[in-house]
Amino acid sequence: MHHIGYHLVCGIGCLFLALVVPAAAAEFGIVAVNLPPPVGLPGKPPIAAQQACTICHSGDYITTQPPLTRQQWNTQVVKMANDYGCPLSEQSIPVIVNWLVEINGKRE
Ligand code: HEC
Repeated sequence: MHHIGYHLVCGIGCLFLALVVPAAAAEFGIVAVNLPPPVGLPGKPPIAAQQACTICHSGDYITTQPPLTRQQWNTQVVKMANDYGCPLSEQSIPVIVNWLVEINGKRE
């Protein structure tokens, strides 16, 4: 007679496993990570900027800056090239700086 009790426990236990394990797998199996979408370059970026300025970071590194003067933008671009290794030709630097001043320049 006391075997019935055992079967009952097993039955409930198996039911528990059958219901809870898949539910847990469904709950923890897929991890949704909400990253902001990558941001492109604003305005009309020159070819050199299109080729170089999103290699290491998204365009919002540029758009989240406060407006900078021409001189400050120049310093930024030279820093990208010299300190961080952004591949830029000598001639492309003023072209890129013109674009940066156009999209986010500060009046001097
Ligand atoms: C070789 C990698 C690399 C490339 C290519 C690159 N950057 Fe950066 N850039 C960085 C790094 C690293 C930082 C973050 C520096 C920090 O956090 O201080 C950064 C930060 C910035 C910032 C934020 C200000 C700052 O100094 O942190 C701006 C603006 C910026 N980059 C503009 C540009 C522009 C414009 C181009 C294209 C001409 C460019 N980057 C290309 C590596 C790069």
